[in-house]
Amino acid sequence: MTAVAEPAAAEPAPSTALRVPPVTPPRRTWRPATHIAVDLGTANTLVLVKGEGVVLNEPSVAALDATGTIRGIGFEAKRMLGRTPEGIRAVRPMKDGVIADFHVAEQMLRRFLKVVMDRHLFRVKPTVIVCVPSSITEVERRAVRDSAKSAGAKKLYMVSEPMAAAIGAGLPVDSPRGSMIVDIGGGTTDIAVIALSGIVCDASIRTAGDELDLAIVHYMRKTYNVLIGEPTAEQIKLSIGSAMPLDEELSMPVKGRDLVSGLPRTVVVDSAGIRDALSESVQRIVNAVRRALEVTPPELASDILEHGIVLTGGGALIRGMGALLTYETGLPVRMDDDPLTSVVRGTGLILDNLPRYESVLSM
Ligand SMILES: Nc1ncnc2c1ncn2[C@@H]1O[C@H](COP(=O)(O)OP(=O)(O)OP(=O)(O)O)[C@@H](O)[C@H]1O
Ligand SMILES: [Mg+2]
Repeated sequence: MTAVAEPAAAEPAPSTALRVPPVTPPRRTWRPATHIAVDLGTANTLVLVKGEGVVLNEPSVAALDATGTIRGIGFEAKRMLGRTPEGIRAVRPMKDGVIADFHVAEQMLRRFLKVVMDRHLFRVKPTVIVCVPSSITEVERRAVRDSAKSAGAKKLYMVSEPMAAAIGAGLPVDSPRGSMIVDIGGGTTDIAVIALSGIVCDASIRTAGDELDLAIVHYMRKTYNVLIGEPTAEQIKLSIGSAMPLDEELSMPVKGRDLVSGLPRTVVVDSAGIRDALSESVQRIVNAVRRALEVTPPELASDILEHGIVLTGGGALIRGMGALLTYETGLPVRMDDDPLTSVVRGTGLILDNLPRYESVLSM
């Protein structure tokens, strides 16, 4: 039987905004704050203030005018993606899990930090921890350092994303027991095996949420001759995307531009077709996990066999992803309770317990 999903534009899908509590209201809080954690993700930037929790959760998007000056960031800028007035460009400075545009990324990070710092009382300049991809280059580190410093950070530490995600997901990273974390974000899927506070083996592939969106854009063009933008593709993914057949297949109307007539047109797409469109990318993720398991030292592999894989990141929310990984690897797979915030929550736990986690930080 086919159930009809609500049209993407009319009804919010189970999106980032729904799963993560909204940002605190823009008022100043007078409780002194000293430590800030930042997850500078390809798709979303989250900021946590120690003692308070997540205070900012916005898309990693900046809107620039013709002179390159930032006109807006976050939600405001994301709304402009694909529909910007002349002279304004909406860009995502982080791409494929790396900083693609240093200048914009630096300004964006500085502005996000400033928003948070303006709303809190800092008697002293705060200590900031920024989560960075494990494959970060020295030049990228410098960009992160410069923007945090110019935003007013006293001390800056960095922690690799998979490590923070594992801590956020409650894995015993400092024990000898091996744990495997798979973080499917917007730009990259990061897979890491962690034991004794170190990453024993890891892999990062540039297949994650963004690539799934592009696969849907491509599918709509090829199958229906309809052109859609990436935000619409993301809505389709959230509303009816899946990695495994669904008990009840879904469908939804999609508006786009007919490539033949050039006019707007609505077509009805179904979850089986979208699953097909996503399958190649989804399989790439599965293969990367299998490869990581193949190179995991046997002692740690047996821990993972016993305790399973932990899945996190927004991309992991695609229906049936956990079940598919279990099917393909034969291992138990557990999804973190709130996969979109694991990284920043993990960083918050590091802040709460700096002596315990000191060894996972770098400068
Ligand atoms: N319910 C959902 N179903 C499928 N995908 C989802 C869902 N919710 C969010 N996503 C996708 O998750 C991705 C964002 O996840 P996340 O915020 O973890 O990425 P990120 O941390 O910014 O990226 P990265 O870790 O690669 O730098 C987006 O591609 C988004 O479309
Ligand atoms: Mg991430």
